[in-house]
Amino acid sequence: MHYGSARPEILTYDPFKAIIAPRPIGWIGTLNADGIPNLAPYSFFMPMGSNPHMIAFSSEGMKHSSINAQARGEFTFSLATDALKDAMNVSSGAHPDGANEFALAGLTLGQPVEIATPFVAESPAALECVTLSVEPLVDRHGTKIDRYLVVGEVVQTHIRDEYIVDGRFDTAGAAPISRLGYRDYATTDRLWELMRPDD
Ligand SMILES: Cc1cc2nc3c(=O)[nH]c(=O)nc-3n(C[C@H](O)[C@H](O)[C@H](O)COP(=O)(O)O)c2cc1C
Repeated sequence: MHYGSARPEILTYDPFKAIIAPRPIGWIGTLNADGIPNLAPYSFFMPMGSNPHMIAFSSEGMKHSSINAQARGEFTFSLATDALKDAMNVSSGAHPDGANEFALAGLTLGQPVEIATPFVAESPAALECVTLSVEPLVDRHGTKIDRYLVVGEVVQTHIRDEYIVDGRFDTAGAAPISRLGYRDYATTDRLWELMRPDD
């Protein structure tokens, strides 16, 4: 099977997100114009590179997170984990500006060091970011498509002490969740190692 813009009927739902899976979830914290915390998950999310460490998320329409990240010039990332999945889900609701999803989801505000935006204190790891750009995306015809790529530079990394084991971040212990297609998620709790040919 192959197809272009018209999906065959046998595919009830668009499999795009099920194919590009698992996707890490950027659990994005921001502050609104009144300084009220905002929190929402974004799975169109990726690390963009290291030194400096950069991360990006894509917003389908300008939502609170991208508006706030642009206006305030900063945002946070918190690692969404199996233990925090219900809170992550609550924070994805279409809550009005100023709703404070941290409070709605029963989460504690983690205190940032270099910026003003809080992160999820319960999360095993979090990043403070300075917004570098909020770019409207265009399609192949150059038409703006109401999608926005938010890129940030990491200025502080927070790791809860219990997740540092033998000098490494304990990913399996943290059990991060990732987004698949449809309403599916996966938990990373078992790792395997593969050495490179040049190691
Ligand atoms: C796991 C998950 C991943 C999501 N990823 C995205 C995404 O990448 N882009 C997007 O625009 N919305 C995404 N959403 C929906 C937003 O989280 C939702 O629209 C939310 O209300 C936006 O909040 P905000 O307006 O406070 O930014 C996702 C929802 C869930 C549950």
